[in-house]
Amino acid sequence: MKIPFFNQKKEEGPQEEFDLTNVPNHIAIIMDGNGRWAKKKGLPRIAGHKAGMDVVKDTVEVAVKYNIQTLTLFAFSTENWKRPKQEVEYLLKLPKEFLHTYLPGLMKNNVRIEIIGDIESLPVHTKEAIQYAKEKTKDNDGLLLNFALNYGSRHEILEAIKLIMEDIDNQKFTLEQLDEKLLSKYLYTNGLSDPDLLIRTSGEQRLSNFLLWQLAYTEFWFTDVLWPDFNEEIFVEALLEYQNRSRRFGGI
Ligand code: IPE
Ligand code: IPE
Ligand code: MG
Repeated sequence: MKIPFFNQKKEEGPQEEFDLTNVPNHIAIIMDGNGRWAKKKGLPRIAGHKAGMDVVKDTVEVAVKYNIQTLTLFAFSTENWKRPKQEVEYLLKLPKEFLHTYLPGLMKNNVRIEIIGDIESLPVHTKEAIQYAKEKTKDNDGLLLNFALNYGSRHEILEAIKLIMEDIDNQKFTLEQLDEKLLSKYLYTNGLSDPDLLIRTSGEQRLSNFLLWQLAYTEFWFTDVLWPDFNEEIFVEALLEYQNRSRRFGGI
């Protein structure tokens, strides 16, 4: 089914067609720019994170609306521990606050929650909140909402290598049997398809240690919009651009 892009302004020329049957299965987002958003408004950085949290809720609703299967959101990186203690503490309190506020709505939307990252090193209250949400939503079969929390791709790959060496030592398989598919099973993303589309807000054009293995053939889309200003219109802009890309995977 094709529908016209509802928000396109007349002066922007012919309306682009939005093809509901050609949306990415898996979208990953680097939600960046909360701090700059707050600074522009003369607010403390944490006000930006709070505003960003509400935009996560809106973004999930848009993903549900457009039938996206998996949405992976970069919420806290293994490098974000370098920030001032107070900011780190606030960021690690946000999952609990988010779930406290929005879990009923997520349940209604049939959303399943998963986490990728080094969960063990998170504060107990964060771990408890996400454990509860995972358990509560485990039978939902709508959108898979995947939070990357204390996630770092190099750490993920290093841990995978250690586990693989152990399993080879324990003769679960041989070195010769190790291939890309088997290696993928040792990553946090085991069972997930690779992202089709990566979005990064705030004008930065880098991966910041996000899904280095999984993004090998992903389409990238960058916007200058700061994360707290991200909305449906911008999301649809990314989806439209995705539909105009030609994915060749090395072929012709
Ligand atoms: C993204 O916003 C949120 C996290 C990285 C946790 P930032 O806090 O990085 O915002 P900027 O990049 O400083 O504007
Ligand atoms: C990436 O943003 C991490 C998250 C969005 C959680 P950063 O703001 O930490 O990335 P850098 O430091 O600008 O690369
Ligand atoms: Mg940033």
